[in-house]
Amino acid sequence: MKFFVDTADVDAIRDLHELGLVDGVTTNPSLIGKSGRDFREVVAKICEVTDGPVSAEVIATDEDGMLSQGRSLAGIASNIVVKLPLTLEGLKACRKLTAENIRTNVTLCFSANQALLAAKAGASYISPFIGRLDDIHIEGTELIGDIRTIYDNYGFETEILAASIRNPLHVKACALIGADVVTAPPAVIRSLATHMLTDKGLDAFLADAKKAGIKV
Ligand code: E4P
Repeated sequence: MKFFVDTADVDAIRDLHELGLVDGVTTNPSLIGKSGRDFREVVAKICEVTDGPVSAEVIATDEDGMLSQGRSLAGIASNIVVKLPLTLEGLKACRKLTAENIRTNVTLCFSANQALLAAKAGASYISPFIGRLDDIHIEGTELIGDIRTIYDNYGFETEILAASIRNPLHVKACALIGADVVTAPPAVIRSLATHMLTDKGLDAFLADAKKAGIKV
């Protein structure tokens, strides 16, 4: 399973990249807005830090606008993936950008049928939002399972990019189901390495080593 980091914080991406924990990056207009930096500048910077896929989202809502913004974003760097909303206009733009060999990430997916349409439109990635479904008391991870089954039934190559990941349990559930990618905030990715018994055990080993005067 690939790990993408869901942020526009370039320093956080660089740190995780140095740890070898980043296969790609996803951003959205809210995350870039929070960074306070110029949209194109921050996307270009992220593409310098990682050579993995970097999703950058259009803000147009009509097909022509999405096509023009998508082509322009794809010109920023060769690892850009154009993020399009899961609307009928977004699906039309997806089909055309795919035909131009521009990779796409169809986002804001909340149902298996939406994911089916994105695959038929040739999306490189589909982004089902788990956390936002959980927020309205719908089991988000069940959606990932449904999409996995549907894509496997028909051999669709669209990768399932589980998004809106809020905690380590989401990551584990996605890994068990067989999501191709999870995109998570830096803090969630870092938290996967921690366990209180690891910390406790390490403290005890170090104390015993000191007591015994062990030198390595
Ligand atoms: C994915 O591409 C989105 O940027 C993101 O995962 C949304 O997460 P949120 O629901 O926590 O805002």
